[in-house]
Amino acid sequence: AGGPWEECFEAAVQLALRAGQIIRKALSEEKRVSTKTSAADLVTETDHVVEALILQELQTRFPSHRFIAEEAAAAGAKCVLTPSPTWIVDPIDGTCNFVHRFPTVAVSIGFAVNQELEFGVIYHCTEERLYTGRRGQGAFCNGQRLRVSGETDLSKALVLTEIGPRRDPATLKLFLSNMERLLHAGAHGVRVIGSSTLALCHLAAGTADAYYQFGLHCWDLAAATVIIREAGGIVMDTSGGPLDLMSCRVVAAGTREMAVLIAQALQTINYGRDDER
Ligand code: IPD
Repeated sequence: AGGPWEECFEAAVQLALRAGQIIRKALSEEKRVSTKTSAADLVTETDHVVEALILQELQTRFPSHRFIAEEAAAAGAKCVLTPSPTWIVDPIDGTCNFVHRFPTVAVSIGFAVNQELEFGVIYHCTEERLYTGRRGQGAFCNGQRLRVSGETDLSKALVLTEIGPRRDPATLKLFLSNMERLLHAGAHGVRVIGSSTLALCHLAAGTADAYYQFGLHCWDLAAATVIIREAGGIVMDTSGGPLDLMSCRVVAAGTREMAVLIAQALQTINYGRDDER
């Protein structure tokens, strides 16, 4: 193992574990909640505390690197992926779960160089599961190798999705109609667990067969994409084309056949782009 980004990977693991400890402790305490882009897009003091911890530490250790992070972006920082080594951070994925003490909450740290994802670290804070993937080196959960499901038949699939932040009638209609299309096609089930990154980790682990979403962000996707690819899975655009990290939409599956079937069934919900805000 090892490789040129070993020190960065080790730093990501250590920070995800430290952040997870803070989040676990804060989960049971009172929280001050604010809203961002919609009444369902939440942020707490802990999101800010954890993001500051991660960014300060990484900026000190790797001063020439660049950073994209959820709460910095919410405060107006631009999301641009340049060829420079770039960290892509979601301090708490599943903030709504966190607010309600629903124990499905993660820290996600992705790392890209030359616009290519090198590694991803996702820590399930309450179940203390550390998911990692490194380009060319496989994907693991607490040291156990991950492998996606080989299912190709939509009528035998367990599909995961997330609602996304918007609640206007037109968006909700499209969201529900997409779910309906998959259920009509015979999917065994469609689940919404409240964390894009942990849903994507289920896909990597083979405990779900497909995932799709409109309205997620590059910090929900970066780390998970490496983990899924290293577990043998497919991550693509909802059009069926290659993944675009900044496009706010994704289809992922254990097999290309399954990903294409899902992509074909979906109607597009246009959320704009992370790099055009
Ligand atoms: C969000 C959650 C949510 C999903 C959104 C994500 P956050 O992340 O994963 O379930 O619907 O698309 O942005 O705001 O909790 O980090």
